[in-house]
Amino acid sequence: MSVSALAQTLKGSEIIKIGGEINELKKRGEKIANLTIGDFDPAIFPIPTGLKHGIIDAYHANHTNYPPADGVTVLRENISVFLKERYHLDYDINQILVAGGSRPLIYATYLALVDPGDKVVYPTPSWNNNHYCHLSGANGIPVPTSAENNFMPTADDLRPHLAGATLLALCSPLNPTGTMFTKGGLEEICDLVIEENKNRKPGEKPLYLLYDQIYSLLTFGDHQHFEPVNLRPEIKDYVIFIDGISKCFAATGVRVGWAFGPQEIIGKMRSILGHVGAWSPKAEQVATAKFLTQTVELNTYLHSFKNQLQRSLDALYQGIMQLKSEGFMVDSIEPMGAIYLTVKVDYTGKTTADGDLLKTSADVNFYLIKEAKVAFVPFSAFGSGSDMNWFRASVGGCSLADIQAMVPNVKAALEKLH
Ligand SMILES: Cc1ncc(COP(=O)(O)O)c(C=O)c1O
Repeated sequence: MSVSALAQTLKGSEIIKIGGEINELKKRGEKIANLTIGDFDPAIFPIPTGLKHGIIDAYHANHTNYPPADGVTVLRENISVFLKERYHLDYDINQILVAGGSRPLIYATYLALVDPGDKVVYPTPSWNNNHYCHLSGANGIPVPTSAENNFMPTADDLRPHLAGATLLALCSPLNPTGTMFTKGGLEEICDLVIEENKNRKPGEKPLYLLYDQIYSLLTFGDHQHFEPVNLRPEIKDYVIFIDGISKCFAATGVRVGWAFGPQEIIGKMRSILGHVGAWSPKAEQVATAKFLTQTVELNTYLHSFKNQLQRSLDALYQGIMQLKSEGFMVDSIEPMGAIYLTVKVDYTGKTTADGDLLKTSADVNFYLIKEAKVAFVPFSAFGSGSDMNWFRASVGGCSLADIQAMVPNVKAALEKLH
């Protein structure tokens, strides 16, 4: 077989490998608490009823032909109003691009801005930037972050890497950690980007900021979502936002995402995705447009969805912190946003009852799958080193009862290690 160098060097997903292991055990009749997938079990987290009916109605109204390449006008109009009302952001319909979920839009941002060999700076752990760098031929610069800073990058972390870079890829609330930028933390990073662009020579490419806020409506307690343009309006020409319905309305399979940013860049992204044909289905666009205006239903849904997520995240967090207080080498960071909890399971170097040495975080993870029937994803799947003993736990695929039942199993499994 002879495939392109790009195809040959694609990296498989570690999460899919873990999924394979879980499926094997399930085939043998085992019940696994699967906290690996950044997705939702629709039986536990259904999409909003209004959105569902809107989709069915749109098919009955025969919205089955090609949508416009940048998205149906009424959807872009309603996104523009939504951005104004929810985020105090001013973007007109020519600065908004709709696609089949947010992934194509992230890829299009890379392709519209990054030439092969250009520097793209992204923090680790983070979601899929390594893959988008590979696909675009970028010179990816992963910048490790630390638990002390909730795994969010700081201006000090990023400063040494921004000279000459084309793109800085940020996300908040962050997949995989469920942590978020503070106002001051993001302001300092915006100032770095502004400063870097001031220092660029005429004709030199600027430094752009990809800001993925797909989880921005899923914040807990007092945690507030911040984004660059309200904090530093002068950065607006350099920011491309990524957003959509996949996570905040549990609608990962519905496939409606949007990007917004400078008109010229959004126009190029539209042309790139037009050739790929990565449109969002027309009926789903029409339904999303309507749902965004159903403010009461939307707010009611969000309120109860967030409560449900928070109960699961809090139960897991408290369970892990209880184990920590009992002397187990585990830790966690308070849930702030998204659908994830950051969990430390510091057991590399330990030996199982069968005499197997747990060398890496992946070994610890597979041990927990087999012994505790619980599956996390090690941060090594998000660009961190395999020696980092932190894991992502996603609560979208499990009920609260599953999570509550799981903590004692983790305890029993860890007790067997020496
Ligand atoms: C940070 C982040 N951005 C984008 C996506 C992709 O979203 P979509 O399903 O809309 O393509 C994900 C999905 O896991 C994500 O975690």
